[in-house]
Amino acid sequence: MSPQAFFASCPRGLEALLAEELRGLGARNPESLPGGVAFEGDLRICCRANLESRLATRVLLKVGRSPYRSERDVHEGALAIRWSDWFSEKQSIRVDVKAIRSPLTSLEFATLTIKDAVCDRFRSDRGQRPDVDTRSPDIRIQAFLDKDTASFYLDTSGEALNRRGYRRDAGEAPLKENLAAGIVRLAGWNPGDPFLDPMCGSGTLAIEAAMMALAIPPGHARGFGFERLATFDRRIWEETRKEALARRQPPRRLPIFARDRYGDELKKARVNLEAAGLGDCVELKQADILDTGAPADAGVMVANPPYGARLGEDSALAEFYPKLGHTLKKYYSGWRCYFFSGDTRLPKLIRLSASKRTPLFNGPLECRLYEYRMVAGSNRKGAPRAA
Ligand SMILES: C[S@@+](CC[C@H](N)C(=O)[O-])C[C@H]1O[C@@H](n2cnc3c(N)ncnc32)[C@H](O)[C@@H]1O
Repeated sequence: MSPQAFFASCPRGLEALLAEELRGLGARNPESLPGGVAFEGDLRICCRANLESRLATRVLLKVGRSPYRSERDVHEGALAIRWSDWFSEKQSIRVDVKAIRSPLTSLEFATLTIKDAVCDRFRSDRGQRPDVDTRSPDIRIQAFLDKDTASFYLDTSGEALNRRGYRRDAGEAPLKENLAAGIVRLAGWNPGDPFLDPMCGSGTLAIEAAMMALAIPPGHARGFGFERLATFDRRIWEETRKEALARRQPPRRLPIFARDRYGDELKKARVNLEAAGLGDCVELKQADILDTGAPADAGVMVANPPYGARLGEDSALAEFYPKLGHTLKKYYSGWRCYFFSGDTRLPKLIRLSASKRTPLFNGPLECRLYEYRMVAGSNRKGAPRAA
């Protein structure tokens, strides 16, 4: 079978890492683009990418592409696709449209136009049309409009891939699971080295790190959109799944530490860890980062401090950052420390020199991952860096 074209979307800032990850999973010609990675592959790669990618949000299969200037052209483009090759009129559909620099004035209208074209094509090919179900559709169709080309995709993931299935209790501002995995990867953590999230909330960073350490496929406990496509090959899927699960290591105590100042947050982390089957793998402890030492001589700290979205938190954070910098100097020499934040005051107020600042988006929010390499006496602002 000739290779098919795919697009895997991801949080902006993780495209290059996703391309590397997909290449490792066997994808051909991965190319980083804003918001995701285009690649080629067969059904097996489609299954693997959905099951094993820690960074992708969705894996989309390209089913058509046509030039357009008007809604009418978009309709013609969608009408030209034999949708019944991919799914049946008995399955419900949902259409979503994304656009960059599209000349069309209403994306809502473009969405309706595509839905009508799919239904019209079904009526002429099969005498019946599929129903629309925007809440829990069997089949998700996605169109991407750039300035002159409409591309049509089938979503092979179904629910977004960040929904691994372990999140029972979300906490206040949880990171999306694939963004958390990307942050752990950007921190360059090697499983086996100590890992600490001192402000863990619902535990997402520690859970993703533990799943990496034990080679647990992130999608092992959920279903996928590709299982509902006419091209679904159960044998290929079961083989792919079996191979991935065979690489999984049994749960064991890991040098992964998750802490939070509040017991209620830790309870959420505990519930989520249990749901992920990692109950005894991570050490949970109630502690304030400002007055608790490191759990090991050296390691990687990754934290996502509060954002200050609530009234009054802003000034509290401005007082918190210099104390945080002081804590790092006092307790964390030998550690690489990473803070993921959208608060541009953090790098100034922490009073340490960041050795790296990686731009990364949390949804629409532009954030940075700040790296501080803590070598005794070397990180004071203005001091020569020794690391
Ligand atoms: C933005 S949330 C972290 C969310 C987390 N990454 C997740 O995915 O659920 C920030 C967390 O920092 C905790 N926190 C705030 N101040 C703290 C302190 N001084 N020491 C430890 N934890 C603190 C809060 O309780 C909250 O759970």
